[in-house]
Amino acid sequence: MDNLFAEQIISNYEHPHNKGKIANPTVTQHEFNPTCGDELTLYLKIKDGKISDVKFEGDGCAISMASASMLTDLVKGKSLAEIEKMGVKDIIDLIGLDPGPARLKCATLSLRTLKEAVFISEHKKPDLATKQL
Ligand code: FES
Repeated sequence: MDNLFAEQIISNYEHPHNKGKIANPTVTQHEFNPTCGDELTLYLKIKDGKISDVKFEGDGCAISMASASMLTDLVKGKSLAEIEKMGVKDIIDLIGLDPGPARLKCATLSLRTLKEAVFISEHKKPDLATKQL
């Protein structure tokens, strides 16, 4: 693992960004990783078709919590249409490494939760690609 990326993950895990709750969120979504039980709750505020604020609470491994920290930073201000198109590659680019098959679900837990929240806010069913993240 590249040291720079490892440091970024550890720093986001130890000092997560956007941790906490939002008062009166537009949508709240809770997900967990069935293989390990790690949990994530995402609070989204949506305004004019864009993410105006996002926070998370969770309990999980360094990769899942660091990816939630980095993803919540990344998506502030993004449109719902942009979020709908995001996939595994966006997460790997964001955290700077491919965690391998065993840890991939750790890395994508936050994106799956976010995309489900976005679909729910639009009264749509999450697509298959989202469910498989
Ligand atoms: Fe559970 Fe990583 S070990 S999400």
